[in-house]
Amino acid sequence: MKICMIGSGYVGLVSGACFSDLGNNVICADINKDKINKLNKGVIPIYEPGLEEIVKRSIKQKRLSFSSNISNSIVKSDIIFICVGTPTKNNKADLKYVFQVVNKIKNNLNKYKIIVTKSTVPVTTGDKIEQILKTKKNKNKFDVLSNPEFLREGEAIRDFQFPDRIVIGTDSKKANKLMKKLYSPLIKKGSHYLNTSRRAAELIKYASNAFLATKITYINEIANLCERSNIDVQDVAKGMGLDERIGSRFLRAGPAYGGSCFPKDTRALVTTARDFKTDLTIVNSVINSNKNRYKLLNSRIKKIMNNNFKKKKITFLGVTFKAGTDDMRESSALDIIPYIVKQGGIINYYEPTGPKPEFKNIKITYCPDIKTACKNSDLIIIHTEWNEFKQLNFKKLSKKGKFKVFDMRNLYSPAEMRKDKINYFSIGR
Ligand SMILES: NC(=O)c1ccc[n+]([C@@H]2O[C@H](COP(=O)([O-])OP(=O)(O)OC[C@H]3O[C@@H](n4cnc5c(N)ncnc54)[C@H](O)[C@@H]3O)[C@@H](O)[C@H]2O)c1
Repeated sequence: MKICMIGSGYVGLVSGACFSDLGNNVICADINKDKINKLNKGVIPIYEPGLEEIVKRSIKQKRLSFSSNISNSIVKSDIIFICVGTPTKNNKADLKYVFQVVNKIKNNLNKYKIIVTKSTVPVTTGDKIEQILKTKKNKNKFDVLSNPEFLREGEAIRDFQFPDRIVIGTDSKKANKLMKKLYSPLIKKGSHYLNTSRRAAELIKYASNAFLATKITYINEIANLCERSNIDVQDVAKGMGLDERIGSRFLRAGPAYGGSCFPKDTRALVTTARDFKTDLTIVNSVINSNKNRYKLLNSRIKKIMNNNFKKKKITFLGVTFKAGTDDMRESSALDIIPYIVKQGGIINYYEPTGPKPEFKNIKITYCPDIKTACKNSDLIIIHTEWNEFKQLNFKKLSKKGKFKVFDMRNLYSPAEMRKDKINYFSIGR
């Protein structure tokens, strides 16, 4: 099938490359010419394990190409996936990029096409897209459907190739048949294919993300209680997770949830519900609890430092919102680091995916390795759970006698740290 992905970021590039790997002809299009130039030179603009290999293989087999000519990419394709960003503006999903694309599609409907929203879009967006496209000239030339994307950064290739479910929101038999054919290699491997109404598919994505954000926030609040009652939150999470109705995933206490999806999607869902005169009190509480978590962690760090940051060296290991990605969107480090700097702390950071431009306006130092970052450190903060942070010899790393470790991902055992006489702090233990 001839496909184009409009928007070649984490979602568009990964799913475009994977669709081409399944034997389709795919154009990954983007208005960012710099990104397209890089891709045409074989440079992958994002960090995503396994992606480069698939992209190179698909280019070689002439099934994958890149273009900044959006109109041309639409004209050449039968299925158009909208994969542009949908950030929040005033707590509402900002659909300006989506509608930019829709207007391009409107003027380039040369034959029947399926228009798919892979971007996360609020309920009724598909209805609005349909209205925009419906002109006399375009009559019967399109179907608009919703196919939300559930991939996780850092695991995106696996998530595409072995999705738990493929959700297709459409009432059109013709479009559903074609989508089922497109996804048939994944369905054959055991993925569930679910055909729902378009609005239901749109809501499935938001409801899923808000639920996962709730699970994280829930265990984070339980961790707060554990810290005050001398209980290990990991025992509690394990005991809860063994109940199959609950499940163990997303029950790991840590920093506030961040990233490109949960914060914006929870906010947008609450706003959508309000538009329908419904109050999602649980999701609203989750948003507030997560906001409070930033403050809570900042005061925890202040306490660990005995209220004294002046000239203290603090090392951050990992600054992205989680391990396995270079994505800084709504990472808790963006809140904690400026707070420490404001209090007078001196920050070194090491990040496996390289230095981050987000910090260019504050005085902090990127270090090329863990050893340099931890040299003479007063406090080492483990912010993400990369494998290379899991077996550190802290005493060798920070030769200072009085250094402390704040492990925000509970990677180490408090008992072993005590045995090694390391001043160790973690979450909910
Ligand atoms: N990142 C994730 O893990 C993830 C997972 C599931 C769903 N989603 C959803 O998928 C969507 C895309 O997310 P992302 O992380 O890939 O975003 P991204 O910011 O990485 O990529 C979006 C791309 O769209 C391009 N773009 C913007 N306007 C355009 C236009 N008019 N024409 C062509 N290209 C345009 C941008 O240049 C950018 O490269 C969002 O709605 C997001 O919520 C993201």
